[in-house]
Order: sequence, then C-alpha cells, then structure tokens
Amino acid sequence: MENVKSIVIAGAGTMGTSLVQIFAKYDYKVALYNRATPSLEKAKKQIALSQESLIAAGMSTEEDSKKVMEKIQYATDKNVFADCDFVIENIVEDMDAKHTFWGEVSSIAKEDAILTSNTSGLSITEMAKAIKRPGRFAGMHFFNPPHLVPLVEIIKGNETTDETADAIYRLAEIIDKKPVILQKEVDGFIGNRLQCAILREAANIVEMGVATAEDVDKAVKYGIGFRYACIGPFETADLGGLNIFNAVTEYLLPQLSNAESMPVLKEKVEKGQLGVKSGKGFYDYSNGKDEEAIRNRDEKFIKLYKAFYQKG
Ligand SMILES: NC(=O)c1ccc[n+]([C@@H]2O[C@H](COP(=O)([O-])OP(=O)(O)OC[C@H]3O[C@@H](n4cnc5c(N)ncnc54)[C@H](O)[C@@H]3O)[C@@H](O)[C@H]2O)c1
Repeated sequence: MENVKSIVIAGAGTMGTSLVQIFAKYDYKVALYNRATPSLEKAKKQIALSQESLIAAGMSTEEDSKKVMEKIQYATDKNVFADCDFVIENIVEDMDAKHTFWGEVSSIAKEDAILTSNTSGLSITEMAKAIKRPGRFAGMHFFNPPHLVPLVEIIKGNETTDETADAIYRLAEIIDKKPVILQKEVDGFIGNRLQCAILREAANIVEMGVATAEDVDKAVKYGIGFRYACIGPFETADLGGLNIFNAVTEYLLPQLSNAESMPVLKEKVEKGQLGVKSGKGFYDYSNGKDEEAIRNRDEKFIKLYKAFYQKG
C-alpha cells in the first residue's frame, strides 16, 4: 500500500464527492472523474459546502480545508486512469454500465493498479467478468456519508487475490476507517443484510398493529441502536449471558417475520411517498422539515464521530 500514491474516484455523485475529500485530506494525489463537466461543477460546489460544515463542526480548519480543495483534480478524460495506482468506482448502480466502465478502464489502467467498486450489493464476481486481470479487483463498500461513517466492507469475488484484499484493507486503515473482509461474496454483504433483517421485523411490528413507526424508531434509537453504536450483537449477547439469549431466541425465532416484501413500504412507494426526497415517507418532511431532518442527523453523527473516532 506504500506504493499507492495516486487515486482516482470515478463517479461524482453522493459517494464520489464525499470520498474524494477523504483521500485529499490524507494527502494522496486524487482525481474525481465523471463523464460530464456539469456533474463535476456540481461536485465542486458540494465539496466546498461539506468543507464549510466540517470547519463549523470543528473537524477541520480554514487552512486544512483549503489544502483539501486545492488537492482535488477534476477529470472527464479517461486517460486519468492511465497513471493511477488505485481506483474506486462510484458510478450508477447498474451492471451493464459497470461492465462498460470497467472494460475500458481496466485496459487503460496500469497492470498493477488495484481496482475497486463501491457497489451497494451487485456481484463482484459478475462485475469482474469485464475486467482485465480480475485478481486485482474487489468490492470496497463505504456507508453514506463516508467521511463520517467508519465502516468499509471489502468483498472478495471468486477471482480476487488475498494480496488484493489485504492491500485494500491496509489502505482503509491508513485513512482511519474500520475495514472488514467478506471471505466470499453474498448479496447485501454484511451491513445491508443486517439492515434489511431489522427493517423487515420493524415493518412487521407496524403491520401487525403492535406499535407505531415512531415507537419502533424510539425502541431502536434508545435501546438496541444505543448499544450497537458501541458493541455488536455478539458482544451484546456475551454481556447479557448466552443462556438468556439462547432461551429467548428458541421461543422467539419461529415467531419472527420471514416476509419476502414489506406491504407498509410498498404502499408508500406506490403513493410516491419516498421519504425526505419527496417530502413525505413514514414522517412529514414538508415546509423545510427535510433540511431540518438532514441537519439533525448530521449533528448527531458528528457528535458520535467526535466521541468515538476523532483523533487528537
Ligand atoms: N448513496 C448511498 O448511500 C450509497 C452508499 C454506498 C454505496 N453506494 C453505491 O455507490 C455508487 C454511486 O452511488 P451514488 O449514490 O453516489 O450515485 P449518484 O447517482 O449520486 O452518482 C453517480 C455519479 O456517477 C456518474 N455516472 C453515471 N454513469 C457513469 C459512467 N458510466 N461513467 C462515469 N460516471 C458515471 C453520474 O453522472 C453521477 O455523477 C452506486 O454503485 C451505489 O450503489 C451508494
């Protein structure tokens, strides 16, 4: 990993715009690539806004933010991939688009460059079919917003070498992330499998009329979620006593939901209630409540980040 000096972040959307700031902060030569200039212009503005928020939260200084912004190069020419050591792809979540992208980029990139995709759940083995020398390719899945959420899931496809996975792990550690390696690929990786399992049970509790969505959210935030920010499910079980967890799971597991879809979610989508982005979801986000919800979330995430992860 000491040989990695130059990184290209491909795709200048939500994830790419945030990721590029991390690598600039850690002093890598970093470029943000997108097919079209307007997206890069938008990204530039978003990066300036993110840096302003970090300064306001005391997580950066004016001087450091300026250095971060000056370090980022913007590119629409694929030749930017020719002399980089590491690529993180964040383009649209579509296998055909990813195949086209990787077919071209893996031919342009140096033979020893490490190639990664931030796909949320597409098969790494399938994606690798378009890649020249697929042993150097793996999934590198960050969580939004990646400059605050510490986890990085590293997903090995059938062809990914141990050397590649180890190198990605090391890079994640260098940028102060908390990496985990999936030894074989599985849909949804770890994070999205757990998230879906909880959401399915939460939806089922609401559908059965047991509790409102508000009370389910409270039960998670003030109960299991409070603990999960500090200790995982296995640590929780060890601390609670495995005999107790064994007894509870034996009578409860058969009663839990095994639904293959969630009516309460589906109905909202059919009505165009998509959450913050449409002004209504499980909660109301009209009249500026959308921005308030995002601000509120970010303030809490920043407090959590400072409490547990900020160095110095
Ligand atoms: N948003 C999240 O919460 C999140 C979290 C983890 C992983 N991801 C994954 O990261 C990837 C990007 O997600 P996002 O939310 O940043 O998407 P986004 O729509 O915000 O951004 C995608 C960007 O890629 C560009 N793009 C699309 N096709 C391209 C191509 N062929 N070549 C170059 N650029 C192209 C678009 O112009 C856009 O700027 C997806 O694979 C997604 O599943 C997203």
